Amino acid sequence: MMDEAGQVDALGLRKVAVAAARVGAAAALPFFRRPDLAVEWKADESPVTVADRACEGAIRAHLAQARPADAWLGEETGTAAGTSGLGWIVDPIDGTRNFVRGVPLWSTLVACARLPAAGEPEVLAACVLLPALDECYDAALGAGARCNGQPIHVSAIDRLDQSMWCFETPTWFRSQGLSKVFAELEEQCALSRGLSDAYGHMLVASGRAELMVEPQLAMWDVAATSLVVREAGGRFSDLDGKEPGMSSGHAVVSNGLVHDQALALIARHRQRPSP
Ligand code: IPD
Ligand code: CA
Ligand code: CA
Repeated sequence: MMDEAGQVDALGLRKVAVAAARVGAAAALPFFRRPDLAVEWKADESPVTVADRACEGAIRAHLAQARPADAWLGEETGTAAGTSGLGWIVDPIDGTRNFVRGVPLWSTLVACARLPAAGEPEVLAACVLLPALDECYDAALGAGARCNGQPIHVSAIDRLDQSMWCFETPTWFRSQGLSKVFAELEEQCALSRGLSDAYGHMLVASGRAELMVEPQLAMWDVAATSLVVREAGGRFSDLDGKEPGMSSGHAVVSNGLVHDQALALIARHRQRPSP
């Protein structure tokens, strides 16, 4: 999608991302809170359902029509090469554990990125859709972030002891040797909130929380959320402070003002494996 000057049209890609996410959510929603929803477990011990597969299939079919020359990376269906230099990174249901328990904090994540010959993709447009909450976050590079069409911005709180920090579960902190980090964040921050998945990132982007720490994740978990957070004025890095660090497998997401304080706390309390 190029304009007359041959530049990528990030706003046009944002529109495509939102349309694709809505198509996917429409395929997933009929399965939400269905008592007979069967759960399978993947090789990485994460759950998957017919809803995840239906959602990803619908998004992939939509984008194959709308953007046939673009590459593809989807959590449930893997990769396909393209010829345009752009690619779509999709997590059909982020928060499947919430979805299968009927908790409305799950989302459909769609990002469009420029794919360089080397290094990380550069996300140009994104949609984070929470269908059960009727909240649609989107962003285009350089054009800001929105929720349901209204501009959003991170908060102005600049101290951890006044901050709300979010996480998904203490289990990932324990399994990644970060139990002390979890305990210290819980001690140092004003409020701690779990269950979040991508919703925690959106709480930061919309100024309702200041920090989210994610000990384990994949590119599709953060491609869309990281652009929304950055375009809302926030900061996204991995646990070492590398930016964007989408392929590091862990993330720190903040309003920017408490980011360095969080990184310093993590560095102090992280248990690194012995050499
Ligand atoms: C999970 C969430 C979670 C992350 C897990 C993922 P899913 O995604 O994104 O935050 O820590 O590693 O598996 O499986 O619900 O899409
Ligand atoms: Ca996910
Ligand atoms: Ca998923």
